[in-house]
Amino acid sequence: MNLDNNIFPTEKQIPDRYRTGKMDQKQYLVNGELREWSGPMQEVSSPVMIRDETTGELKQRSLGSHPMMDAASSIEALDAAVNAYAKGSAHNTWPTMSVGQRIEHVERFSKAMLEARPSVINYLMWEIGKSLPDATKEFDRTVAYISDTVEALKDMDRTSSRFDKKEHVYAQIRRAPLGVTLCMGPYNYPLNETFTTLIPALIMGNTVVMKPAKYGVLLHEPLLKAYKESFPKGVINIVYGDGREIITPLMQSGKVDVLAFIGSEGTANNIIKNHPRPSHLETILGLNAKNPSIVLPDADIDLAINECVAGSLSYNGQRCTALKIHFVHEDIVDKFVYGLSDKIDALRKGMPWTDGVKITPMPTMSDVEKMHNYVQDALAKGASIINNGADSVGTLFNPAVMFPVTKEMLLYREEQFGPVVPIAVFSDINEPIQYMIDSDFGQQASIFGNNPAEVGKLIDVAVNQVCRTNINGQCMRGPDAYPFTGRKSSAKKVLSITDALRAFSIRSMVGANDTDANKKLLKEIIDGGHSKFLSTDYLF
Ligand code: G3H
Repeated sequence: MNLDNNIFPTEKQIPDRYRTGKMDQKQYLVNGELREWSGPMQEVSSPVMIRDETTGELKQRSLGSHPMMDAASSIEALDAAVNAYAKGSAHNTWPTMSVGQRIEHVERFSKAMLEARPSVINYLMWEIGKSLPDATKEFDRTVAYISDTVEALKDMDRTSSRFDKKEHVYAQIRRAPLGVTLCMGPYNYPLNETFTTLIPALIMGNTVVMKPAKYGVLLHEPLLKAYKESFPKGVINIVYGDGREIITPLMQSGKVDVLAFIGSEGTANNIIKNHPRPSHLETILGLNAKNPSIVLPDADIDLAINECVAGSLSYNGQRCTALKIHFVHEDIVDKFVYGLSDKIDALRKGMPWTDGVKITPMPTMSDVEKMHNYVQDALAKGASIINNGADSVGTLFNPAVMFPVTKEMLLYREEQFGPVVPIAVFSDINEPIQYMIDSDFGQQASIFGNNPAEVGKLIDVAVNQVCRTNINGQCMRGPDAYPFTGRKSSAKKVLSITDALRAFSIRSMVGANDTDANKKLLKEIIDGGHSKFLSTDYLF
């Protein structure tokens, strides 16, 4: 036990530059208007607890509140998106406007977003307990993602600007939007992962209803004005509240064409089943994962340990890409387990703004409770806590290294999504292979080793179980230009800068038989600028 209440600050100890007041955010964006919500509000509590100066008692700091909208107001937001889409049939509206025009709107937003940088970063620290460097990275990575998306779309558009001729048919093939899109991001990347679906959805001509994640809501407030001023009315609408109350009626209406959801498989299935015509609904999903590392006997042990510490515990292990179980060969398991434990014990615990902090508070006390349950279950079934951890104070859980983790334990299969690090030992490589084959998830895996024959064989099996096999490195999403997806229950559709543009659109083609009359007609449409779709313009 080495944590105590003093890890949390008193109100006075909060550094002035990160101090935040209470924000009661009543505004919500519907149909291009910032409306004032007068109904019930949801109190927002920070993962950061404040220590009472005299009693020493801890209390999660209150950050303010946000609207708890109801079914009727949420349906209004959906109708605004439906009208703005207008079935893709009205001239000079979002889905029919030129790619160049849509890019201008997105760039306007991206510029306006920069003004909100300090507030958004501060809210990432306060609302979800992300460290200052990670919060800063999340914001800057998102801005870069937007500009890379713009460049990728220009590139795509330039390729589509030419005519093709196969047999006797001329064709121009471009990507067209899919319709009204519901975007829901996760709490661990409430800005970045929301935007990695929101921006491609918008830029491809879809209209959007966005619901911020359960935690990480207020950070969108400083962006509300930018959304309102950058996009035509109804193109983006934002709803707040309890999913069952406000998302169920949206889906039941049958008016949602695309669901972009990043979160748990159970929630995704609950949302999807409400759609009256599930086969009509396009789904783009990022769900659970249980990425394993496999550490072979000849692995560079120091490198493997460093990568596995970062892979397991960056942002407290609250990443879908985190390494969530380690399979280590028996020949090196002792070295690995104790080396990893020492490194983990040395990680700095503290508040998001603490210099060099690696372990920060979890969103709620029940997340901490969940970590204790995993530890207790593993202890009861024969594992030990190897490091000086597994204790907690308030919302801060001291990482636990559990060894040996075996099949009967919850940690073997369940995604812990937090700072508990399970290690299993193997003697036969077929054990971790079978683990991947039997897993319900299939996002990524990491292989640590240097024997070309062994690593090569393992790669050939892993690539058919997961969608990214990392050699001598932790699992991760970036660089964002690379495909990010998963098999089985881990994901649906591929996200990357370019793949996301494809996911939120469909190829649509204009074809014409090779006749003189058609050639004349096509030329006149293009020369006269009569169509936004049929055009040979080069997008600079
Ligand atoms: O939670 C899942 C994120 O997409 C992980 O991204 O690997 O860059 O932390 P990351």
